[in-house]
Amino acid sequence: MKKIIFVCLGNICRSPMAELIFKDLAKKAGVEFEVTSRATSDDEVGNGIYPLAKAELIKHGITGEHRAQTITFDDIFEADYIIGMDTWNMRALYRLAGDGLAHKLKRLCDFTDKPRDVADPWYTRDFKKAYDDIYDGCVALLKFLTSVQDK
Ligand code: 4NP
Repeated sequence: MKKIIFVCLGNICRSPMAELIFKDLAKKAGVEFEVTSRATSDDEVGNGIYPLAKAELIKHGITGEHRAQTITFDDIFEADYIIGMDTWNMRALYRLAGDGLAHKLKRLCDFTDKPRDVADPWYTRDFKKAYDDIYDGCVALLKFLTSVQDK
């Protein structure tokens, strides 16, 4: 089973949202993946999903729990796809992965027809926009992964 790790700065807003949205989409599509999420920083380690991120997910019928953890080189080694939310996350991931594992790293909304960062709602306070961007990215990512799996 393919293993996917979603990554953001704190692992309390965007990447756990992506984890739960992607799990929901994959379940509805009847496809199985191993899915989790991680932080590039250690600022929020052990903390649960931020209440406003959780509230936005609940508006869309999505529930779940996650405790923030920092990504490690071993996480990248063991996963198939590491999906960052923004350009800053990607820079941190490229530093950690090195040339050997760089091929596993992708930015979420690069799978859409409008490549862009998922802006950090911790700073924008716009959790709806974050949800919409992450949802778009997860739909496009699932489409990509199912097309790759079919081959
Ligand atoms: P996230 O948002 O990267 O989407 O989880 C953040 C959460 C916390 C902080 C920054 C971004 N922080 O600085 O504590």
